[in-house]
Amino acid sequence: MSVTHALAADDRGLDVLLRQDPELAEILLAERRRQSTTLQLIAAENFTSPAVLAALGSPLANKYAEGYPGARHHGGCEIVDVAERLAVERARALFGAEHANVQSHSGSSAVLAAYAALLWPGDTVLALGLPHGGHLTHGSPANFSGRWFHFVGYGVDAETGLVDYDQVRTLARTHRPKAIVCGSIAYPRHLDYAYFREVADEVGAYLIADAAHPMGLVAGGAAPSPVPYADIVCATTHKVLRGPRGGMILCGSELAERVDRAVFPFTQGGAQMHTIAAKAVAFGEAAAPAFSAYAHQVVANARTLAAQLAAEGMAVTTGGTDTHLLTVDPAPLGVDGRTARGRLTAAGIVLDCCALPHGDSRGLRLGTAALTTQGMGEREMRAVGTLLAAVLRGEADTAAARADVRDLVREFPPYPG
Ligand SMILES: Cc1ncc(COP(=O)(O)O)c(C=O)c1O
Repeated sequence: MSVTHALAADDRGLDVLLRQDPELAEILLAERRRQSTTLQLIAAENFTSPAVLAALGSPLANKYAEGYPGARHHGGCEIVDVAERLAVERARALFGAEHANVQSHSGSSAVLAAYAALLWPGDTVLALGLPHGGHLTHGSPANFSGRWFHFVGYGVDAETGLVDYDQVRTLARTHRPKAIVCGSIAYPRHLDYAYFREVADEVGAYLIADAAHPMGLVAGGAAPSPVPYADIVCATTHKVLRGPRGGMILCGSELAERVDRAVFPFTQGGAQMHTIAAKAVAFGEAAAPAFSAYAHQVVANARTLAAQLAAEGMAVTTGGTDTHLLTVDPAPLGVDGRTARGRLTAAGIVLDCCALPHGDSRGLRLGTAALTTQGMGEREMRAVGTLLAAVLRGEADTAAARADVRDLVREFPPYPG
């Protein structure tokens, strides 16, 4: 199932870099070694294809292109215009959206532009609270969102870990928000977009779906789409979608002009044409039947990993997953989330800490997008779960676990030669 292959073109670039700037080239090589000798279980990460990397490293990086195709503030945009139109058309077709803006530099920039299109400073917004898995852009006081808007947070049930949908409706009725945001950095289940739409309509709010995490699954038909329900859908083009680091926005044609103006000139300057070209490549890849198989395998792998961790005694939030990510409390194995992450990183198992639905303790967030791109399946997920638990219980010492990890990834290199 592996879709990546040797980085031939990239290696040519690396040769140039090695000759010109060995200090920096060594850093790139060290990171490549790290990625190919450890297990990448960070739920937001993946391995892009060499074709995506080729577009990112192309001369399109040189071009300034403020504005939109056919209406740029710079000369010489006739070729990059074709690239952006292609990216837009592919995104629209892939997600069945009337309008796509592919210029957002990141997921956060996409959310910023969505707010800029629909809201004024001081408006009330209802979103998943940060302690329950909301993103920084969903009202963190350290982020523009928390400073410029009045956020009210809904939560997840402390016992089940599931979104408290009754609370969403109650808070919406009480606070009459201008917008409701649905989306999370750590929610392992599908969201009920139809329910959010119903509540938004009831209180006259816009519905913004921040689908950064599930969007790749949506592309592959392995998760429900927010597009028919939300006024605006924001997403990243990395994560399961396996494109370059970046953002995008989808909406209906009635909001198209407001969204485009919110991206440029309101919140961004020149579009990054090499990234937009790489997004086009990724959308093309995601439209192929192999990507649908990949997306479904990502979910099958996450379910298997969740079941294995539960069998090893860990508490799996919501009892499992519908998606590429799962969150677990390692406390039953006698270790808290932060200590667990440190121990696992030392053993070559790389993942994140996350909030848990109950109490203040930290859990672990794991995702299967990258391992699945490497070609791993359910057998390997069971092995990873067993090894992970052995490390946390102190049954496997760090050096031995690291050797096991190295043996496993040697069989599934991210960029096979
Ligand atoms: C739900 C959600 N929104 C927004 C973002 C922000 O994306 P970026 O890191 O590209 O700014 C993320 C990133 O993980 C996310 O999970």
